[in-house]
Amino acid sequence: MSTTRPERRPVVVLIGFMGAGKSTVGRILADRLGVDFLDTDAEVVRSTGRTIPDIFTTDGAERFREIERDVVLEILGSHGGVLALGGGAVMTPAVAAGLAGHRVVYLKIDAEQGFARVRDSDRPLIAGDDPHRRYGELLAERDETYLRTGTFTVDAAAGDPGDVADAILAELARALVPERAATT
Ligand code: S3P
Repeated sequence: MSTTRPERRPVVVLIGFMGAGKSTVGRILADRLGVDFLDTDAEVVRSTGRTIPDIFTTDGAERFREIERDVVLEILGSHGGVLALGGGAVMTPAVAAGLAGHRVVYLKIDAEQGFARVRDSDRPLIAGDDPHRRYGELLAERDETYLRTGTFTVDAAAGDPGDVADAILAELARALVPERAATT
């Protein structure tokens, strides 16, 4: 990855569990804001030339988290648009620390709706015997970290992805013009 890119910071960082729609909503949001969109999973694939399931299977989850951490920290200092993080990235302490001071949105999905969206995907973390149970367990483990890390939380299932992007835009507007929000 290039080290000559100018210092920039994301307009907004989307976090949340698999199936929350971070990439779909993030693309729409970036389009509405007129900025670029980046997805750290896609950057991991691009920078390694490998698929995520291959990295998990061949090198293990720990190695995947190291690669992911390096990619996220690099992008946080160089990408000026909307950024979607892989669902587990914030569980890495260096990533959580790197997000301090950034505008972070937690896209919250419940276990039933989220699982329905990813059940037929090749996500390695739900590749085992009981993916439904595993999905629910992991979400329950992570929810508190997502809540703590997010500057605000948006319901990822409230309408279509365009509606969710609009909800984020409304929260961003509130955050940027607090005195106006306080008088209305
Ligand atoms: C993961 C989520 C995935 C991907 C990897 C691990 C996780 O990203 O980074 O399979 O630990 O929750 P998405 O959240 O984009 O599915």
